[in-house]
Amino acid sequence: MNQLLLDLSAVLLLALGLRGLAKLRTARMANGLAALAIGLAVVGLLVSQGLAGWPWMLGGLAVGGGIGVVLALRVPMTAMPETVALFNGCGGMASLLVALGAVGLPGPMGLLATVSVLASVLVGSITFSGSLVAMAKLQEWLDTPAWTQRQARHAVNITLALACLACCVVVVQGQPWGLAPLTVLALLLGIGLTLPIGGADMPVVISLLNSYSGVAAAAAGFVVGSALLIVAGAMVGAAGLILTQVMCTAMNRSLTSVLFGGALGASAGAGSGEKKEAESYGRITSCSAEECAMALEQAERVVFVPGYGLAVAQAQHSLRELARLLEGHGVEVSYAIHPVAGRMPGHMNVLLAEADVPYDQLVEMDVINPEFPRTDVVIVLGANDVVNPQAKNDPSSPLFGMPVLEVDQARSVYVVKRGLGAGYAGIKNGLFELPQTAMVFGDAKAVLNGLITELRGLGVGKKALAAV
Ligand code: TAP
Repeated sequence: MNQLLLDLSAVLLLALGLRGLAKLRTARMANGLAALAIGLAVVGLLVSQGLAGWPWMLGGLAVGGGIGVVLALRVPMTAMPETVALFNGCGGMASLLVALGAVGLPGPMGLLATVSVLASVLVGSITFSGSLVAMAKLQEWLDTPAWTQRQARHAVNITLALACLACCVVVVQGQPWGLAPLTVLALLLGIGLTLPIGGADMPVVISLLNSYSGVAAAAAGFVVGSALLIVAGAMVGAAGLILTQVMCTAMNRSLTSVLFGGALGASAGAGSGEKKEAESYGRITSCSAEECAMALEQAERVVFVPGYGLAVAQAQHSLRELARLLEGHGVEVSYAIHPVAGRMPGHMNVLLAEADVPYDQLVEMDVINPEFPRTDVVIVLGANDVVNPQAKNDPSSPLFGMPVLEVDQARSVYVVKRGLGAGYAGIKNGLFELPQTAMVFGDAKAVLNGLITELRGLGVGKKALAAV
């Protein structure tokens, strides 16, 4: 088959795949389509090259595919952000290697090819080292060193950027040796740009690095003359930028303040396990699973608010079982999804999809917020910052201005968490002290299982079965 036809089919399949990823219901199939597109592109390349070098390609596919399968099977949901960061870095490294490899090919390079190689090496290197730093920070292997918070870091980064530019000029003037210092300097620049950024801003950085990896891939596409790589890179670049914007809005941060503002005060303790003392709270009402189950049994409308703690407890299946019980009892159930709940974009959607929660029950923040005043019971499950009313009421709060789920408007709120530990932002949550709030202390999975037992004890399961 003609290579152009294979390339075109691959581009079309990839576009369909990316489109399908926008919806949870079609995401699995979309992933398959995108993988098929890449497979077709490889076949196209093999055909055009007269099958030269196929053992290398098959070897690479086997090694890369093998690592991918092992990671997909073994990485827990809670470690997805670091995995995504690592994959972004691999994308950047691949573009860097393709560009460096192309320089070694026989024959002169035109200006377009040279500029493409430079873009690929520069952006690929920044993406690679920046993503590794982001991964290490999310994995809590790396802190934000105090010295990176000094203004002098801008001077260092600007010097590195100018030195990169000088190397590019050297290469354009026909001196390919300039690529070696360019690679080293751009790798350092990637570290210099990412190291000062605080933990809470990491989702924004990861989205941005994702966009960079797309740009590097598109540039590599120009280097090797691959239409698929150009289109795929451009789409990933654009999608990453849009996601970056969505994340910035959800966290009420501007991109400039994320990139150049250093670590947020609020995020200094983020991810470090730092906890607020219980003493810093005044009036706290706690209740048992039994009391909470009784409120659920009486409710007509219940909203679950999943957060990072739900993912830690791996309680999504218990939650689904509880929701099924309530639905069988005639209760209207929905799930309020905050854009930055959890630790990565779409974390809660993926977690709940794993437990077969119907997609139409997941309601976005802007849609569900006006619904809280007519909600009987809200169950907050391992969420904290995303339901903190101080984000609306307290101008001195580091979260002030961040859009939150307005659960304080509901008739009664039950917060399920292990203690009075702070969330990612490391600050107190005024929701816990409100008169309509009761804390149900415990691991999210244990509490949910307790609620299921209590509800069954109240005959809810039997009524549900009788209704069936
Ligand atoms: P958090 O504010 O981080 O709160 C999670 C809560 O879960 C903690 O207060 C913890 O309290 C509780 N918890 C932990 N393990 C638990 C368990 N086994 N069972 C029950 N509860 C448990 O979570 P959130 O509300 O989802 O907010 C997300 C935060 O992370 C935001 O600040 C956001 O900016 C940030 N962030 C988001 C992302 C993205 S893109 N989603 C990425 C990085 C950071 P106890 O210790 O008392 O149990």
